[in-house]
Amino acid sequence: MTIREITLDELNPEEFIAQQVETVSSTVGDGRAINALSGGVDSSTVTLLGHKALGDRLLTVFVENGIMRKEEPQRVVERFEALGVPVELIDARQGFFAALKGLTDPEEKREAITQTFYKTVFGKLVKESGARFLLHGTILTDVDETVAGIKRQHNILTQLGIDTEEAYGYQVIEPLLQLRKPAVRVVAKALGLSEAVYNRMPFPGPALAARVIGEVTPERAETVREATAIVEEELADTGAFQYLAILHQDKVTGMRAGKRDYGSQIEVRCWESADARTGSPTRLPFDILERLADRITSKVPGVVSVTYNVTKKPPSTIEAV
Ligand code: XMP
Repeated sequence: MTIREITLDELNPEEFIAQQVETVSSTVGDGRAINALSGGVDSSTVTLLGHKALGDRLLTVFVENGIMRKEEPQRVVERFEALGVPVELIDARQGFFAALKGLTDPEEKREAITQTFYKTVFGKLVKESGARFLLHGTILTDVDETVAGIKRQHNILTQLGIDTEEAYGYQVIEPLLQLRKPAVRVVAKALGLSEAVYNRMPFPGPALAARVIGEVTPERAETVREATAIVEEELADTGAFQYLAILHQDKVTGMRAGKRDYGSQIEVRCWESADARTGSPTRLPFDILERLADRITSKVPGVVSVTYNVTKKPPSTIEAV
């Protein structure tokens, strides 16, 4: 099935919101729905659309999977509670790390995250809450890249022929399927979300697991989380499309206090891009790069090397896994 895009030029945000609220209302009827809020612009938009349509018949959850950014779960819950949308924080860290244990292949890691999220965590929540619908923030670009076989975006289910009713026990509703990111930002703004949300830089569904090469253990997730926090702080004023830290699998010889220190490598990426389909590295000033290297090697335990990616997409991709 081809999905008809609503382009930025065509989009009338108020009309779009009214239509989607109506569709969600009529699909769910007098039943209940669940939605997972991750704090990104897509899921934040869907949360507000769903809340408008269903009020307290929408159960919004934030799944703490152990691979979110530093302090993110609490921050997101507080932000939405301030908007009058209650969010339930679900601690699923153990389940995710158990599913990721021993996996190094990128697609196997994605599959483990997908299954844990949709089957284990949501399957259970749906049963407990009596909801029959999951509201989902899938956008058109997620579908394109998955269907093209570039990367499996973790939120793509029906477009891969997965019958969610049969596989997981609920039906998926995807109000943003006809939009790309710039159009979602316009809808988010029209819904009254703050600029910090509607202009938020993209973050992948598989979270920091998309930035850990090799096995994702709690310790390795912590390393990339700390490095990410420093990168986000240092590069916040660059205006770049997206910036991130990647933890490499290979170790390298370094030195500390006059002794050999065989440690980890962090790669920093900072992208100029319009829509993530192509991209080029930002020409960062060398003093920023140097400060990043100094902060990461001194504050993140075990890291002895920091590199900067200078490759374009393609052939690179924005994330590493
Ligand atoms: P890539 O790495 O495919 O990323 O160039 C394109 C954009 O999509 C964001 N994003 C994801 N990337 N898996 C990914 O690899 C996902 O499930 C996913 N979800 C979102 C990514 O951060 C970049 O902006």
